Amino acid sequence: TLRPIILSGGAGTRLWPLSREKYPKQLLPLINEDSLLQATVRRMDGLKGVQLSAPMIVCNEEYRFVIAEQLRIMDRKGSILLEPFGRNTAPALTLAALAALREGDDSILLVMPSDHVIMDVESFQAAVLAGMSQALDGRIVTFGITPDAPETGYGYIQSGELIEQGETACQIARFVEKPDLSTAQTYLDAGNYLWNSGLFMMRASVWLSAIGKCRPDILTACQAAWDQGSADGDFLRVDKKAFEQCPSDSIDYAVMERIARQESDLPGGVVIPLTAGWSDIGAWSSLWQVLPKDDAGNVAKGDVLLNDCKNTLAISESRLVTCVGIENVIVVETPDAILVVHKDKTQDVKLVVDMLKQQG
Ligand code: GDD
Ligand code: MG
Repeated sequence: TLRPIILSGGAGTRLWPLSREKYPKQLLPLINEDSLLQATVRRMDGLKGVQLSAPMIVCNEEYRFVIAEQLRIMDRKGSILLEPFGRNTAPALTLAALAALREGDDSILLVMPSDHVIMDVESFQAAVLAGMSQALDGRIVTFGITPDAPETGYGYIQSGELIEQGETACQIARFVEKPDLSTAQTYLDAGNYLWNSGLFMMRASVWLSAIGKCRPDILTACQAAWDQGSADGDFLRVDKKAFEQCPSDSIDYAVMERIARQESDLPGGVVIPLTAGWSDIGAWSSLWQVLPKDDAGNVAKGDVLLNDCKNTLAISESRLVTCVGIENVIVVETPDAILVVHKDKTQDVKLVVDMLKQQG
């Protein structure tokens, strides 16, 4: 069986003021009436030829009721694994793998971030199916996106030899997480690097053995936190004291960079190209990019009046917002905060949020 594991621990600070610590971006209906998390849950609908288990969502304690309610509205079942605090994606996946194994079979985990948009669901499902046999063979499968800019917030995968003639999966020749700008530019120029989409697929036991070899400290801490945890309906809780001891690290740094070096006692890694309208809604500019626009490139949501504007995104939650004669600006109005930011500077919204946090 194939079990979707949805990672939903991030805070999404660059989408402030809509995204808040108590209500992060993945729980918001940013694209249509579904939240990004709900769209992720639906992404496997209609997948043929594979038996699909109910998803497992790994998130912070604090989001449990919102997430349970979003599943209920969709009339979906799913287990919700609760972390008392975030320790990044490697521990989150380790807990999920322990939970999946506990439920019986060594199913294939399809690890999905909860905050991405994938326009072409059919192509996505085809890529997943293409990865199944690789995952069954004990490999860790990644999905690679053709890059179009030297983004420094992504992992870069150099594709190696084709695994099998007629298939799309290639060996991972190299994996570099979040390179600096000049390195990212050389990868872009080289032409044989893909962005890591952040989606992974592997057997639960394969992940546990990989993390056990790369970061035994993470495995030990997660094991203790899981063993001393408890189940409460659909909520799975881990032990807070034990999980507190768990070091923080990402799947990419902890395991993937080493998988690519083909160390002998680690599982092999493959990359499958993904052409499916993938987008990481990391900042306001990427949201503007994926939303349908008028002829002048504007997006207006809520009570908004635009005149003579270009490439502008305006969102109003509680009051009338009017913009006149502006270009490449993002305006987001909420009851207690308004953001006005140039479209090329949306990464820096994080800095403002950090400043606000410091002020308390
Ligand atoms: N449950 C849980 N707990 N989820 C978490 C935690 C955690 O502690 N930390 C992050 N997540 C979730 C986020 O909500 C997101 O859905 C996903 O895991 C990935 O985490 P990010 O923090 O968004 O990672 P990133 O964007 O910096 O990098 C990853 O994604 C890129 C593509 O978007 C890496 O895999 C990169 O290599 C990749 O290019
Ligand atoms: Mg991300």
